[in-house]
Amino acid sequence: MCQSRRGRAITDANPVAWAAAACWGTGMDWVRDFYSRTGMWWGPAEAKVGERDHRRVAKVHAQVGDGPWRILELGSGYGTTAGALAAAGHTVTAVEISERVRFQTAAERLTVLNEDFYAVRLEREFDVVCYFNGFGVGSDADQRRLLRRIAGEWLRPGGAALIDVSNPFVWQSWHGDEEHRRPDPEQGYAYELRERTTFDQVTCTATDTWWPADRPDEAISQTLRCYTPADLALLLEGTGLRLTGHDPVELRDEHEYLAVLRPVTP
Ligand SMILES: C[S@@+](CC[C@H](N)C(=O)[O-])C[C@H]1O[C@@H](n2cnc3c(N)ncnc32)[C@H](O)[C@@H]1O
Repeated sequence: MCQSRRGRAITDANPVAWAAAACWGTGMDWVRDFYSRTGMWWGPAEAKVGERDHRRVAKVHAQVGDGPWRILELGSGYGTTAGALAAAGHTVTAVEISERVRFQTAAERLTVLNEDFYAVRLEREFDVVCYFNGFGVGSDADQRRLLRRIAGEWLRPGGAALIDVSNPFVWQSWHGDEEHRRPDPEQGYAYELRERTTFDQVTCTATDTWWPADRPDEAISQTLRCYTPADLALLLEGTGLRLTGHDPVELRDEHEYLAVLRPVTP
């Protein structure tokens, strides 16, 4: 099981392309460090294609058909889902800001950009834009900026965006939880870690804090804005996208649910 609950062009033809990220606005400057550091803790265990990646491929096929499609994956982490999508025959561009790309395995039809998705320039339109387990960083204005890029620059007419949205109902139930993760070297987990989760009902944000068990002063946190489907529909207003579906089972039981967004047609 994953310790992380929520957790360039790298192709045979194109070597890894590194680029500086754009300036971060307030509220997002922790992103690269948090995911790079936690990636070094968990990458040896988690950077392999697994069941979760195959389930995501199946979800893409269930929502938009088998394709093959041109897919943009935002916040691709170690790139295991991008790899599984490419192995299923899709042409995939993945964008990831952190050092997690160091765990990326090169594959045919897969291009990985080590860039900031608020700054990256992409020339082509995509049939599908995916963002698995990551949406909700920064302010509502930041989410809207990203959603407008998806609608206006990346998604072709008739395409779909598939986005995991943090679920406030479940995150709230975890408020105050503390976990102690012991090392499991056989599985690739080398570190002894502690985790604390809190949920702010006013801002509807979850904060997930991790630290090495013997160094509490080195705690690092991720903060995620959670949205009910009703809140998400409001967020989408004026972005060029509308909510056309969500997974009701995930909304009931999981810490995130898949939202299906499609371009607004005039
Ligand atoms: C919780 S992780 C999930 C990674 C992967 N999608 C998965 O499910 O394993 C969220 C990822 O989004 C990336 N990310 C967040 N903001 C980003 C940005 N502005 N540009 C590119 N990647 C970003 C983070 O670095 C992190 O790897």
